[in-house]
Amino acid sequence: MGAANAKRMNHMNAAYYTGFGGPEVLRFGEQPVPKVPPGWVLVRVMAAGVNPVDWKLMDGSLDAILDTVFPAVPGWDVAGVIERVGLDTPEFSPGDEVVGYARKEVVRGGTFAEYVALPAESLAPRPREGSWEAAAALPLAGMTALRALERAGAGAGEPRTVLVHAAAGGVGQFAVKAATAFGHRVIGTASPANHGFLAELGAEPVDYHGDWPARVRELAPEGVDAVVDFVGGVVRDSRALLREGGGLVSSVDPVVVKRGGTLSWLRADGALLARVVELVDSGAVALDEPAVYPLAGAAAALEASRAGHARGKLALRVAEGVTPDP
Ligand SMILES: NC(=O)c1ccc[n+]([C@@H]2O[C@H](COP(=O)([O-])OP(=O)(O)OC[C@H]3O[C@@H](n4cnc5c(N)ncnc54)[C@H](OP(=O)(O)O)[C@@H]3O)[C@@H](O)[C@H]2O)c1
Repeated sequence: MGAANAKRMNHMNAAYYTGFGGPEVLRFGEQPVPKVPPGWVLVRVMAAGVNPVDWKLMDGSLDAILDTVFPAVPGWDVAGVIERVGLDTPEFSPGDEVVGYARKEVVRGGTFAEYVALPAESLAPRPREGSWEAAAALPLAGMTALRALERAGAGAGEPRTVLVHAAAGGVGQFAVKAATAFGHRVIGTASPANHGFLAELGAEPVDYHGDWPARVRELAPEGVDAVVDFVGGVVRDSRALLREGGGLVSSVDPVVVKRGGTLSWLRADGALLARVVELVDSGAVALDEPAVYPLAGAAAALEASRAGHARGKLALRVAEGVTPDP
């Protein structure tokens, strides 16, 4: 085998960026296939979920809390097939079909690429049904939603009244579906264009423009038992709507801590991810098809996410590969 071929074998096609900026800084080309440390696996990426955190990391907004090593491949959500396992990694075998949440200590080797290396504890078997893209759109949103509900005291258990902010978004939709499956009454904020859609999911929609607290109060004069916030800027008013002893969790707004609530930042947690998959496999939560972009359309997908009004999830079809930039 020639030296040039040997070098190509260690490389993959990927989207990457070499400095902070908007979706226009994204490039396409060869990057090294990541190494696979003990306890990790190498996943051949079939599809990658697109999340707000991807463009927030790319534009440097999260630089104060997470180091980026350039060139950085974006992407924290993946569905794919295990290509190789590291030393002493008995949990998985080559050929296993998995989903994973790919946050690591530094931002560098993400999922907008043909291969990604991940710790075994970031993964779970993929849902039995649904496309690769739908599977890839599940981990981050599903885990965030389930964890927020549970921390707010609105997991499976006694019926509660739950207020979900940004209920039509990727995380919010999963929260609405899971909360209704748990038997809770769900009030969800969204723009009027999404109200019919939320009603179909079993939620009572509330327009977030203007005096939304008064609308929630009208629906639930006795207050709500739990609030999960996936948009920010709503903590103070939400606190006032909570019944005594109710749970308040935000995945966005640090102010929540000053109001006696919990700020939730998702960690790798294979057991939590497996429970999310179980909700789907059991039929409790329907797995909707996301809006699908080719890997080459990653910048457009990030732009659509950044616009802030996506209904549900966005995902990249990676298995087809991408032509490198000239
Ligand atoms: N801390 C963590 O670990 C964590 C994890 C996941 C996500 N997050 C954060 O959670 C947020 C939501 O994530 P996502 O993936 O669900 O985003 P997303 O899918 O892009 O959310 C878009 C949705 O937000 C809704 N929205 C926009 N402004 C709103 C407002 N003022 N009130 C209510 N809804 C509003 C939109 O509804 P309309 O179209 O009807 O306006 C749209 O459906 C992001 O900021 C993300 O970074 C944090």
